[in-house]
Formats: sequence, C-alpha cells, structure tokens
Amino acid sequence: MINIAVLVSGGGTNLQALLDAQEAGKIPHGKIVLVLASNEKAYALERAKRHSVATAVVRRKDYGSQDEFDQALVQTLRDHHIELVVLAGYLSILGGHVIDCYRDRIINIHPSLIPSFCGKGFYGLRVHEAALARGVRVTGATVHFVNEIPDGGKIILQKAIAIEDGDTPEVLQRRVMEQAEWILLPRAAEIVAKKLDEEKA
Ligand code: GRF
Repeated sequence: MINIAVLVSGGGTNLQALLDAQEAGKIPHGKIVLVLASNEKAYALERAKRHSVATAVVRRKDYGSQDEFDQALVQTLRDHHIELVVLAGYLSILGGHVIDCYRDRIINIHPSLIPSFCGKGFYGLRVHEAALARGVRVTGATVHFVNEIPDGGKIILQKAIAIEDGDTPEVLQRRVMEQAEWILLPRAAEIVAKKLDEEKA
C-alpha cells in the first residue's frame, strides 16, 4: 500500500474524484493519507475533512525563499510518510529540492493535450481560453510526471475531448474536468501506486 498526498489550491473537484475512486475500490494500491493545501481557504480542505483525511497548509508567502518553502513542504510530506504526491489543481511552484526528493513520484493533471497549451502561465481557465482562441477542434487532459520543466515530465495518460460550437472557456473547462480529468487522475494514481508498490516488494 502506497501513502498518497494530494496537493491542492482550489475547489478540489479532482481531489473529490480521487476520494470517490478510493472509496469505490479503484485505487487498491494507494491510500490518500494527506491533503496539503497552498492556502487555508481552499475548499478542497473541506472535502478532505468530510472524508476524515488529514490536512495541512503550507503557504509560500510564509517562507522567505523558495528553498525554505521546499524544505517545509518536504518535511510535511516526510512527517506523513508520503510515497506518492498527486498535484490536483495545485498552483504553487515546486522547487528542485522537492522534485529531487520525490523524483518520479509526483504526478500532475493538466487540462490540455500536452504539448499543446502547457508550460509557464498555462493553468486553469487560461488553458481553455487559449484552445478556443487557437480554434482547435479537440482538446482534453493529460496526467504526467512532474520534473523541473513546467508540464514537461513523461506523459502517463491522456484523454481527448471534442470542442463544440459555442463553447465558452467555462463550459469547456467543465466538460474537460467531468469527462477527462476526473477519470484520468484516479486511474493514473492507481497505475503509479501499483508500480511503486511492486518495486517495494
Ligand atoms: C481546474 O482548472 C482543473 O482543470 C485543473 O485545476 C483547476 C482546479 O481543479 N486541474 P480542482 O477543482 O481544484 O481540482
């Protein structure tokens, strides 16, 4: 069994998909033991509490440097014996120290088909605004490993979603979340947790 931490910043719908999948037995090799938020106002924290999952808040603005923040983040993860980190709508930057400590053990959900509409500055609604502005007919979501390059790590899963006439960024975001993100992230968490669990054996 692999201890999983889910890192969040906002509403936590991806976290909810993970919690629901866990309760439905769809993540048999992993256990969500910590939800760590970048701010104390993240509604995702309420979702964690409703499922009796431990929570923590580690705010970048409480630390004088990226390195001090990284150290605090890693210490919190170590205190909870975390083996796999899942970024679910997490908006803080992870510095090199975090990535080194959890090499190939951090995964992220991005709301586009990487390499399109990804990298620095592409997050949340901005991703869908860019897809609509470019006029692509297909978008989707990607789960990938996290490394030093924003959205640049090895791709684990992708799912394509058709863009429909009249889509607004908000409507498109919701469709990509419902039909791609919430399906892919639990599936990817189980794939990686299973691999890590087998390596432990
Ligand atoms: C959404 O834009 C989603 O596409 C991205 O993170 C944002 C918030 O997701 N992955 P959540 O509801 O906090 O999981």
